[in-house]
Amino acid sequence: EKAEHKHYMRKEIFEQPEALGRTLAQHLGQPGLTVALPAGTAGVFRDVDRLSITACGTAYLAGLVGRYWFERYAGLPVDIDIASEFRYRDVPFRAGNPAIFVSQSGETADTLASLEFARARGQRILSIVNVPTSTMARASEIVLPTVAGPEIGVASTKAFTCQLATLACLAIAAGRERGTLSAEAEAALVRGLANTPRAMTTALELEPAVRKIAHRVAAFRSALFIGRGTSYPLALEGALKLKEVSYIHAEGYAAGELKHGPIALIDKDFPVVVIAPGDASFEKTMSNMQEVIAREGRPILITDQKGASLAPQGRWETLVLPTMPAICAPLVFALPLQLLAYHAALALGTDVDQPRNLAKSVTVE
Ligand code: F6R
Repeated sequence: EKAEHKHYMRKEIFEQPEALGRTLAQHLGQPGLTVALPAGTAGVFRDVDRLSITACGTAYLAGLVGRYWFERYAGLPVDIDIASEFRYRDVPFRAGNPAIFVSQSGETADTLASLEFARARGQRILSIVNVPTSTMARASEIVLPTVAGPEIGVASTKAFTCQLATLACLAIAAGRERGTLSAEAEAALVRGLANTPRAMTTALELEPAVRKIAHRVAAFRSALFIGRGTSYPLALEGALKLKEVSYIHAEGYAAGELKHGPIALIDKDFPVVVIAPGDASFEKTMSNMQEVIAREGRPILITDQKGASLAPQGRWETLVLPTMPAICAPLVFALPLQLLAYHAALALGTDVDQPRNLAKSVTVE
């Protein structure tokens, strides 16, 4: 089945428009203009003062994007942590607050233990899982399935974007419930989400350009990924994907943190992937890119048409996506990052579907 793609990772990357369409159909109401969450979710965000999100790895990074959405659209403070830290913290819980757990497999040991930790402290347990029969799904009060289909490649790709879509729908539903989102604002967000599969298809057409960039990146030992706002967790995800499949050392940073340390690394042998849709933080990110250019680093700008028309000269490479609503950007910008990791791995001859030392599901602590 993977024959046409050579690897599961590529197959799963290219399945995303379809997988996302399925996941959105699961969470959006029939006319396509409202979010319709499963029975049991009504009221879960209404009279609460905080929400916690807990996960590991890529699923945690999806949660980090989710935090921006819950705060922006629902005015709900979010406490987010990595499962292996959360379960050992002395978290001051208020009974009845919702706790969201995100997992592709639904079997990750630390995430499961965190779920039980939160349940024992009176939290309402919601899980976003891809395997509907998993332990986590069975242990949750409310299950929000991602309908990505089986993910076989060890590096998470389609599960990540389906987790993002589910978190976006949850944040919109929370905004409606809390009265922080008007019906028009909700409809606009939902319309944006509904167009995401199409924008993803366009993004996948950039593969030849991404492949060329990946070959250039593969000549270096390290890479940095930077972004602001929801592009910051994406920078972390781009770096995670690159290191796990190509073994190139990569780090993700909030663009504003560059001058607080990592800029010391920048020289002519340092590719820096700058994730910057033409949004409210675009100009700030561009000034960080200028800092890289001034030190002869090699900025690879991933932006949209709007950003491309405003970006300064001096870039090493540029990838241009269609301009899209802010809520779609993390879902669509994830694709060139996945393809970059995939093609860098191919260039270096690593085992993309089964990277060394990694397991698909981490069932030990
Ligand atoms: C990275 C990756 C891992 C998983 C993490 C959590 O590509 O796949 O970081 O995201 O091990 O796994 P799940 O989602 O199954 O809990």
